[in-house]
Amino acid sequence: MTEDLVLPAPRDAVTDAPGEPLLEVEKLVKHFPVKGGFPIRRTVGQVQAVDGIDLTVHVGESFGLVGESGCGKSTTGRLITKLLEPTRGRISYRGKDITRATRRELAPIRSEIQMIFQDPYASLNPRQTVGKIISGPMEINGLQPDGGREKRVRELLEIVGLNPEHYNRFPHEFSGGQRQRIGVARALALEPKLIVADEPVSALDVSIQAQVVNLLQKVQQELGIAFLFIAHDLAVVRHFSQRVAVMYLGKVIEVGDRDSIYTRPRHPYTHALLSAVPEVNITGEEAAQRERIRLAGDVPSPISPPSGCRFRTRCWKAQDKCASEEPPLVQLSGNHTGHLTACHFPEDPTIEARDEDIVLDPALAALEEGAEDD
Ligand SMILES: Nc1ncnc2c1ncn2[C@@H]1O[C@H](COP(=O)(O)OP(=O)(O)OP(=O)(O)O)[C@@H](O)[C@H]1O
Ligand code: SF4
Ligand SMILES: [Mg+2]
Repeated sequence: MTEDLVLPAPRDAVTDAPGEPLLEVEKLVKHFPVKGGFPIRRTVGQVQAVDGIDLTVHVGESFGLVGESGCGKSTTGRLITKLLEPTRGRISYRGKDITRATRRELAPIRSEIQMIFQDPYASLNPRQTVGKIISGPMEINGLQPDGGREKRVRELLEIVGLNPEHYNRFPHEFSGGQRQRIGVARALALEPKLIVADEPVSALDVSIQAQVVNLLQKVQQELGIAFLFIAHDLAVVRHFSQRVAVMYLGKVIEVGDRDSIYTRPRHPYTHALLSAVPEVNITGEEAAQRERIRLAGDVPSPISPPSGCRFRTRCWKAQDKCASEEPPLVQLSGNHTGHLTACHFPEDPTIEARDEDIVLDPALAALEEGAEDD
């Protein structure tokens, strides 16, 4: 990978002050109709993929969005990039409401918000050369960079750590990690302000993941591009994101600064996710001091989520109130500003080991007891 980036001049320095809200999402909802019945198919239910989330991504910030499979992360990313229409709620970009913006109104904004997809194999056209793939967005948007498009593509290839001489090669001539770099170069072609990266490394070999995360981090820091980084576990976003939101069944259940979330989590689900994170740098005694929670069993269906708190069917602290009242996402006393938690009976703000492990799956617990008896 090249160490020196070729940096374009920063655009709109005045309006792009770091820390200013770039993207704001309020009470965002996306329900997908479920069709059934014969001979006449009608709507028999709704998949509550995203069910009233609030998020703010600031200029130049890296924001991590984490949760198990099916909790609504990709749907959120697709709503933000306007690939999907929301059922309800509001999306603002630089203070402008773009929820119902027309194609024409969106045109200038579209180039500023780009997406990187999980699967670098499926997201590149196999019949186009790398040069064509990366210059495509410039062509569509009528962008004519100084020195021409080809020169800019070669610069971009260099930025993402690929050989500029490979301009005329096809995607199949590259490895998975290299293809993801091509995806990054394509996303950078329009000098975006926000990149939604939907599990950009989970399809890659573990040994390659760190390299691509490093590249994204470099891009984020040196080009000042804001990121919404989607991942299914907390390990990947730990070193990348300044703020993190945890999703469960279409809701944000905890959000806050990285340190606050990783060292002082309050929601039982965040505790469970953190205790499942394999930490390479934690060994021996230190590992023994960390709490262990085995979160087993399936996430309930988003077609008929549990009443009250959606996590209650898997929560070891659940009480009657959890079934009858949905916990609001609020700042608990003693927490840092901006660290919000949705739980009636939050955990202590620590990740130290408990007296006992928590094993949530009865079948797993029985197996383990059996093994201990042997
Ligand atoms: N186009 C669609 N039509 C119907 N249901 C959908 C559609 N897209 C997503 N869903 C459903 O919405 C829910 C959320 O899906 P989404 O892809 O956003 O989850 P995710 O958190 O990205 O999961 P993963 O980690 O597996 O990528 C799932 O139950 C999914 O089946
Ligand atoms: S509200 Fe109740 S069920 Fe939900 S996470 Fe908190 S304690 Fe568990
Ligand atoms: Mg997804």
